Amino acid sequence: MTLLNIDKDMCKQDGLCAADCPTGIIYFKDKNHYPRLVPKGETMCLRCGHCVAVCPHGAMDHAEIPLEACPPIDKALTLNEAQAEQFLRSRRSVRQFKKRDVERDVVQRLIEIARHAPTGSNLQLVEWVVINGRERLREISGQVIDWMRGVLKVDPQPANRSYMPMLVKAWDAGQDTVLRDAPCLVVAMAPKADHNGLVNLTLALSYLELAAPVFGLGTCWAGLLQGALLSDPDLKSAVHIPDGYPHHYALMVGYSRARYYRLPARKAPKIHWK
Ligand SMILES: Cc1cc2nc3c(=O)[nH]c(=O)nc-3n(C[C@H](O)[C@H](O)[C@H](O)COP(=O)(O)O)c2cc1C
Repeated sequence: MTLLNIDKDMCKQDGLCAADCPTGIIYFKDKNHYPRLVPKGETMCLRCGHCVAVCPHGAMDHAEIPLEACPPIDKALTLNEAQAEQFLRSRRSVRQFKKRDVERDVVQRLIEIARHAPTGSNLQLVEWVVINGRERLREISGQVIDWMRGVLKVDPQPANRSYMPMLVKAWDAGQDTVLRDAPCLVVAMAPKADHNGLVNLTLALSYLELAAPVFGLGTCWAGLLQGALLSDPDLKSAVHIPDGYPHHYALMVGYSRARYYRLPARKAPKIHWK
């Protein structure tokens, strides 16, 4: 099988695939010809699947993005404006979690959804570490608190980290304000070779956090953990981030104890129309 296979019975020779190909590797002469791959097109193909997705006739098959793996869009599931706005605005950072563990297959499903987030040049280099178990997350929080204690030893009132003494005090009183007693930590990471790594994994985590409530799950970005990891790279082993993965961020995940009834207002956007 070549990279592109065009079903000549189905193809309407409309050139839609060629017009939408981001790297221009599909040549379409005119209505009397079928589209075809340009010489060396295989090496430039992003494997993005646009040629398959844009063909209304199901005439395009791609060796690495097979037609049967690309389900048709179900129009009945399309959100209208109000549904889209409410869906996006009702995403919340959850900081109260039930004791219940998060099942492995549910995390797997979330990651399956999140992997459809866009990546620069469709590289798809984001990888995942999943750490399950409240006790294990508590240990990680403890390591972050120990790092804070070290920072406070040098500077007891750090100007840009004024929250630290309070967090350490809370920890000593038995409260985990770092990972919020979450039962699961999902770390997305990307290797050095991924120049858009942080953007790519942030988008993937955003997809994951948007999908989570469908499963009754809440998520929260682990910014305090991130601060500690960036400041003391030795801590990266605590969350199993190997060498060579400079891009990373973690989300706490767990069944939410909180429910929300309103959509909080935000600042008006500052838009610089030019
Ligand atoms: C990059 C990033 C890091 C964050 N880090 C933390 C954190 O460490 N702890 C926490 O409780 N919330 C954290 N948050 C959640 C924000 O505080 C939250 O998004 C913001 O207050 C708005 O609330 P909402 O997410 O419910 O809309 C973080 C959010 C982002 C985007």
